[in-house]
Amino acid sequence: MKIVSEPKEMQRLAEEWRSRSGVIGFVPTMGYLHEGHLELMRRGRDVCDHLVASIFVNPTQFGPNEDLATYPRNFDRDCELAGSVGVDVIFYPSAEKMYPEGFQTYVEVTGLTAGMEGASRPGHFKGVATVVCKLFHQVKPHYAYFGEKDYQQLAAIRRMVRDLDMDLTIVGCPTVREESGLALSSRNAYLSVEGKKAGLCLSRSLARARELARNGETDAGVILREARAVVEKEPLARLDYMKICHPESLEELEKVESGSRLIMAVRVENTRLLDNGPLL
Ligand code: PAF
Repeated sequence: MKIVSEPKEMQRLAEEWRSRSGVIGFVPTMGYLHEGHLELMRRGRDVCDHLVASIFVNPTQFGPNEDLATYPRNFDRDCELAGSVGVDVIFYPSAEKMYPEGFQTYVEVTGLTAGMEGASRPGHFKGVATVVCKLFHQVKPHYAYFGEKDYQQLAAIRRMVRDLDMDLTIVGCPTVREESGLALSSRNAYLSVEGKKAGLCLSRSLARARELARNGETDAGVILREARAVVEKEPLARLDYMKICHPESLEELEKVESGSRLIMAVRVENTRLLDNGPLL
C-alpha cells in the first residue's frame, strides 16, 4: 500500500490509472477507522481496479468551539486496517497543502443543508462540500463511497455532484452498528461505558418509530412523539433534533410513506451522536 501526501502526486497517479482505463474507487475519511469505514472500502474493492482512501481531518468543517484539536487520530493503525481490506493508496494530505495561503474558494450546497446538522453546526456543510469537491479533483474517482450514518452529508454530496455535473457515482452504504445497535462513529471513542449504554437510546427510538410505522401509523407527529419519548427517558441524553424527512429532499413530512427517514442527533456526555433510518 502506497501513502501519497502531495495532491499533485495523487492527481498524476489517478491520471495514469485513468489513461489505462482503470476504474478508481474512493473512500474519503477523517481517519480513526472503524468497521463502518472498512465496509465502504470492501464495497469499493469489490468493483474497482484501484482503491484510494483519504485520511484528512478537515479543519473547515469544524466550528470554533468544536473538537478539531481533540478529534481522535491513529495513523499507523488506520494504515494497517486499510491495508487489511485491500486499499491501494492512502491519500494523506496536510492542511497546508489542502488550504494553502490565500485560499478563498468554497463550495456551498444550499437548501438541503439549512436544517438539522446545518442549523446545529453553522458552516459545517460548506467545509464538507469544499473538501469533498477538492478530494474528487485530486483522486478523480469513478465511484465514491459514503456511509448513510451521516445521511444529510450523503444527500448534500449527491446534490453537489448532480448540480455541478461531476462525473462520478456516489454510492451510499448502510450504517454499520455494534451488536448493541449503536451506530459506529469515530466519535464513540469519546463515550464512557455509561455513555455508550445511554447512546443506545438512538437506535431504540428508531426501532420504536419503525414499529409504529410498520403497524400502520402514518402520522409523523404521533411517531415523533413516541420516538422522542424514548430519548427523553434516558437521563444522560439530550435530544438536539429528530425529524421525519423525505429521503432525497430532506423536507419534513407530515405523513409517513415508503422511504421516509427518521433522522436525529442526540447529545450524550457532550458528544453529539447521529442516527437515522428508513421507517418503511
Ligand atoms: O464523513 C466524514 O468523515 C467527513 O465529513 C468527510 C466526508 C471525509 C469530509 O471531510
